[in-house]
Amino acid sequence: MCGIVGYVGNKSAKPILLEGLKKLEYRGYDSAGIALQVDQALDVIKKQGKLEKLEKALHNNKVESKIGIGHTRWATHGKPTDENSHPHYDADYNFAVVHNGIIENYQSIKEELLAEGKVFTSETDTEVIAHLVDKYYKGDLSEAVSRTVKRLEGSFAIAVISKNEEGRIVAVRKDSPLIVGLGQNENFLASDIPAFLNYTDQFYILEDGEMADIRKEEVKIYDYLTEKLVAKEIFEVNWDAEMAEKQGYQHFMLKEIKEQPESVKELFKNKINAEEIDLSQTGIDRSLFTDTHNIQIVACGTAYHSGLVAKYLFEELVEIPVQVDVASEYRYRKPLLDEKTLVIVVSQSGETADTLAALRLAQEKGARVLAFVNVQGSSIAREADHVIYLKAGPEIAVASTKAYTNMVAAFYLVSLQAAVWLNKIDEKRKQAYLKDLIRLPELIRQVISNVETQIKLIAKEYISHKNIFFIGRNLDYTIALEGALKLKEISYLHAEAYPAGELKHGTLALVDEGIPVIAVATRKDLFDKSYSNIKEVKSRGAEILLITWEGYLQENDTVDHLVELPDINDLFAGLLAIIPLQLLSYYTALYLDCDIDQPRNLAKSVTVE
Ligand code: AGP
Repeated sequence: MCGIVGYVGNKSAKPILLEGLKKLEYRGYDSAGIALQVDQALDVIKKQGKLEKLEKALHNNKVESKIGIGHTRWATHGKPTDENSHPHYDADYNFAVVHNGIIENYQSIKEELLAEGKVFTSETDTEVIAHLVDKYYKGDLSEAVSRTVKRLEGSFAIAVISKNEEGRIVAVRKDSPLIVGLGQNENFLASDIPAFLNYTDQFYILEDGEMADIRKEEVKIYDYLTEKLVAKEIFEVNWDAEMAEKQGYQHFMLKEIKEQPESVKELFKNKINAEEIDLSQTGIDRSLFTDTHNIQIVACGTAYHSGLVAKYLFEELVEIPVQVDVASEYRYRKPLLDEKTLVIVVSQSGETADTLAALRLAQEKGARVLAFVNVQGSSIAREADHVIYLKAGPEIAVASTKAYTNMVAAFYLVSLQAAVWLNKIDEKRKQAYLKDLIRLPELIRQVISNVETQIKLIAKEYISHKNIFFIGRNLDYTIALEGALKLKEISYLHAEAYPAGELKHGTLALVDEGIPVIAVATRKDLFDKSYSNIKEVKSRGAEILLITWEGYLQENDTVDHLVELPDINDLFAGLLAIIPLQLLSYYTALYLDCDIDQPRNLAKSVTVE
């Protein structure tokens, strides 16, 4: 959701900024622009649409500069147009500003500035920042920015350059991520680490309330309220640039689907062996659960779906009551929690605004917070009391696949270990589960290779439909929810998931001749019940795709497409059943010619509420 980049050094800034913006495309955007500082003037180029348009405009622009800022905008205030794109500037082109987030009090500031005679050229909340910096500038950019941000309410990450101050970028963070990449005689600014992984693995991660004063030879970090220098530690990233490349795949999403066996292996590395689960490297131990009366899991979207899986696991294995909430709802109700509540927040990006707010609320109320996070050094990872890193590597496609898998796999580990710590399962049962978990990466690999061709054929049929239903019971229902979300977000087909037993309470009215119904049925104890529900929809004309165990369906007079999975304990079947659904949404979207990695209106990292 919006991306900021900045560069100052000895090289030409244009290609570096453009490359950084390309690396941030996955965050989602609808326009882009850059501002360069040249001979005591600012040159601003911005375009509505994809980066190719900006690239073309930059190609025709012969300006050369060694410092600049850039932005990909995901529209909130004002349509995606050239005028509303960032950077924004004041009337005299003294300052150029890029901004992520929302300025909640921009309307009153705008009225004040209009009354002073300032002329606005966009409908955005951001433009007030450029005019305020201009108003407060008395020869020192950081002082003007600091005065400006003290007037702003809301969430923001901001970067500003001035025509008067050569080689200087001033950037500020409040509730919207910003990092500074450290190079030799060059420094970088970005809203996310992958932007400049090709140039450095050393970063300062700005905290809320910090301001970075960036020049090519040095970076100073201040607290913008006290204006005191902050001593920052360098954060070294162990992702390499190649991990964030497509490596020959047409889309990041397909690459990430296929990386799942390896990413689960990476998560399990040193945490699981033939006899034990060992979570010592994550810093969590028995004490986290011995005093826990209830668990609340809070997250958004796909991460929320992983939490739903966890509810079944914890309740079945650990016998602790679990409540799962969507973060945007949780934060605005009055959740009942205390120091005996363990709150688990789950987030790939670690920057989702609602999830971060839920974490803070839980901490305020005295609960302990465990976070499952993929992105190192992200806000949620830094603020939680305990962190389990998901180790999925960079996930670039907006539609989450490998991060989801590792979220669920992390829940397998933690729930199983909690059951061991609390003596809820005996040694024999534990050994059987461990054996299955160790096989999981290989079984995922097998499913990918077994079903891909079959799924491509089914996807070709699905493109002519407008509505698709997913059904399942128990853990299978959570997988159905995730499968439906994947299909919606990248193929734009309408997909809904229902608990199979709930259909006849209303939704069955929508089932009609030829409508595809995808049934997930891997809970062996519930198979017969799920199969009755399948028959209910079949008898109303539905076309059934069933995902179940190999050899499980003895007589078939009902199912039109059968996808079979290799055997594993049905507690862990979800991570096999989700693979055909991920592939189905990928290929359906591919045949519908959709923008798979950057679906319309969506952003990878949702940093506004
Ligand atoms: C996943 O496919 C979605 N793009 C989305 O639902 C995502 O899972 C959600 O926005 C939460 O993101 P997070 O994991 O980074 O917090």
